[in-house]
Amino acid sequence: MKNPISPDSLAQLFSNAQTAHAFLPHTMSDAEIKALYDAMKWGPTAFNACPARFVFLRSPEAKKRLLPALSPGNVPQVESASVTVIVAHDTKFYEFLPELFPAYDAKPIFESNPTAAADAAFRNGTLQGAYLIMAARALGYDCGPMSGFDPAKVNAEFFADGRYQANFLLNIGVADAKGVYPRNKRLDFGVAAQLL
Ligand SMILES: Cc1cc2nc3c(=O)[nH]c(=O)nc-3n(C[C@H](O)[C@H](O)[C@H](O)COP(=O)(O)O)c2cc1C
Repeated sequence: MKNPISPDSLAQLFSNAQTAHAFLPHTMSDAEIKALYDAMKWGPTAFNACPARFVFLRSPEAKKRLLPALSPGNVPQVESASVTVIVAHDTKFYEFLPELFPAYDAKPIFESNPTAAADAAFRNGTLQGAYLIMAARALGYDCGPMSGFDPAKVNAEFFADGRYQANFLLNIGVADAKGVYPRNKRLDFGVAAQLL
């Protein structure tokens, strides 16, 4: 096996990493956003389908389009973040399978089965959203994921042709300490896990 990453790095990803609900003034360049994508894109997905699609909202004008869909408490979080990402998935992700997974013709599996396609898009798109959180933390950013929004409004505003569907939102930036809440406990191993 490989060497474990350092305890400090592990803590940056998990035990010391907390959700940010407010952010300090900070900007992310095009290159920094692309570097973030280029780190997360290597996370695994079934058949290497990579169904997630990401809309990075950075300008005030772009964020303004999102605000009407948000729960009120999430508005200042989006306004202060360096960037807010709409983590969505492509309902026709299977069109890329011949390119992404040339070893096997998996496209017909999903093209002919809308339920399997929807399940795979949601499952793997969600995983990719989680990879984005961990990549952002690895690169030193703080994150604030959000499901407090109306997906129908986001889809209508950003994905009018219906092909992409919003899953969750992710604020990325530099946390303002006032927006980091007391840490809640996690389930103990004996509650959350079985070792058979
Ligand atoms: C998928 C998801 C959706 C969330 N939605 C919201 C939200 O809409 N608004 C909010 O303020 N926090 C939201 N949170 C933040 C969680 O409450 C927070 O991550 C959790 O309590 C853990 O906090 P910690 O990282 O500080 O330990 C969400 C988190 C996740 C992962």
